[in-house]
Amino acid sequence: MDAYKITTHQYDVVVVGAGGAGLRATMGMAAQGLATACISKVFPTRSHTVAAQGGISAALANMGPDDWRWHFYDTVKGSDWLGDQDAIEYMCREAIPAVVELEHFGLPFSRTEDGRIYQRPFGGMTTKYGEGPPAQRTCAAADRTGHAMLHTLYQQALKHDARFYVEYFALDLIFEEGVCKGVLAWNLADGTLHLFRAQSVVLATGGYGRTYFSCTSAHTCTGDGGGMVLRAGLPLQDMEFVQFHPTGVYGAGMLITEGVRGEGGYLTNANGERFMERYAPSVKDLAPRDMVSRCMTLEIREGRGVGPKKDHIHLHLEHLGAATINEQLPGIAETSRVFAGVDVTREPIPVIPTAHYNMGGIPTNIHGEVVTRKGDNPDAVIPGLMAIGEAACVSVHGANRLGSNSLLDIVVFGRAAAIRAGEVVTPGAKHSTLAADALEPALANFDRLRHANGNLATADIREQMQRAMQADATVFRTGESLRAGAAKVSQVHASFADVKVTDRSLIWNTDLVETLELQNLLGMALTTIYSAENRTESRGAHAREDFPKRDDVNWLKHTLAHVDADGKVRIDYRPVHLTTSGDVAVAPPKERKY
Ligand code: FUM
Repeated sequence: MDAYKITTHQYDVVVVGAGGAGLRATMGMAAQGLATACISKVFPTRSHTVAAQGGISAALANMGPDDWRWHFYDTVKGSDWLGDQDAIEYMCREAIPAVVELEHFGLPFSRTEDGRIYQRPFGGMTTKYGEGPPAQRTCAAADRTGHAMLHTLYQQALKHDARFYVEYFALDLIFEEGVCKGVLAWNLADGTLHLFRAQSVVLATGGYGRTYFSCTSAHTCTGDGGGMVLRAGLPLQDMEFVQFHPTGVYGAGMLITEGVRGEGGYLTNANGERFMERYAPSVKDLAPRDMVSRCMTLEIREGRGVGPKKDHIHLHLEHLGAATINEQLPGIAETSRVFAGVDVTREPIPVIPTAHYNMGGIPTNIHGEVVTRKGDNPDAVIPGLMAIGEAACVSVHGANRLGSNSLLDIVVFGRAAAIRAGEVVTPGAKHSTLAADALEPALANFDRLRHANGNLATADIREQMQRAMQADATVFRTGESLRAGAAKVSQVHASFADVKVTDRSLIWNTDLVETLELQNLLGMALTTIYSAENRTESRGAHAREDFPKRDDVNWLKHTLAHVDADGKVRIDYRPVHLTTSGDVAVAPPKERKY
């Protein structure tokens, strides 16, 4: 192994990732006087949160009656009862102060005539515990809410003197005796390696959409936090639940916000029929995403898809008129023109369900602390390690996330992690001395991949993985397809031992970056497809054709998936939290109908 010179940095807290979750945690920690570093592989305002469009949910009741308890109920039902109800209660209640705070930080929300934050309907968001009409609950900055949020939070983090390490790639967590002591990172610009010591390392590395061939996620969404957690011997939770957004641009994958349907847009099949009226008579096109994606897939399968190959669906907003489109959906008009060649004031957008979001991730409690099962304790905290945002699984989304609950998740739990750090981290406390070989496993992995001299290109291995995931871990699944897909992903994982990295340099070595990312993605793909094969029921986004019903007797539990060094997946379980503080009643499982 080459000898690497390591520069050590000492902080109270280190946040890995500068999307909405990472920045909200960073600013909140720095604002409390904690010495806070944020390391990010891209410039903070290029993080994937920038692509979030439709908005952030909070029961502000600015545009009609609302109550955070109704939001709680909708989220539990949307999760198909797999969400932890204590965490959902926390998120929906804290949504209100968290969004008001964002407004005070300067987030430029769209406004109502009387100057309040503008709110639009979104799928699965209703009133009166599902008995009333749709709620207008999603707070929007036109169709660029994530962009507005990211810039606002980055400014706040700078204002509070957080220290940013930009274009640093996090390689591995450093553990001693079960306690996370820091993270090793590679500075892509000058090739140096850096050890960030911290009393708490916060993983805010986002999702892993790039395990799929077609997804709405940026190329940077490679599950880097999850990969580090698996290599540290810890499990990931509920990875079988992958959300397909109903409206990705056909052939290109870009997101067309659900806000289009919130503003009155609708889907049609080849017969011009508004088919969602048949499947979800009460909420129609504003049914939750898992359901809409399944209905679109069924329409296509039954020969009612549009286009020469009858393989997609039309999304209409022509009837909304240019004024509404220009004011509320300007980004969509542009995306459709550029990526589909469509003038949305005159023609429908060709759309198809596209991999969009990972409900599963690193298991945490409501404070953002990473947890796992240890003996009889299913909620044992891993000292020194936190995870937030899409990288984490709190679990507030359970088996299916409602649209606009993800910007909410990142803000509420980024804030919660900052609050927790303020309670448990002692500013300026001295770090323990690490054993001489504490960095060995991390350095050995990095060095091995840097010098990898096999026969297979990183891009080819990645494409094999993406095609297997796209074919076999998709909107509908069967035991047969999952078994075939799992075998294929295992084979692809094994082939990674034969990868070739063509560039040995340490400076701007994008081949090595993509290889490190692929190692992380392969862990995500393995845990996703084996967890899916293992769960013999249908729940939320996990629709098994061979087990079409939800099975609360056997499967009202979270999956924990470990991966050993040979790529073998071991499954364990944690119970779902069916408890609340009492301020809202527990929602007992029942049939999920819209
Ligand atoms: O459709 C959208 O605007 C996406 C929102 C979300 O994933 O929450």
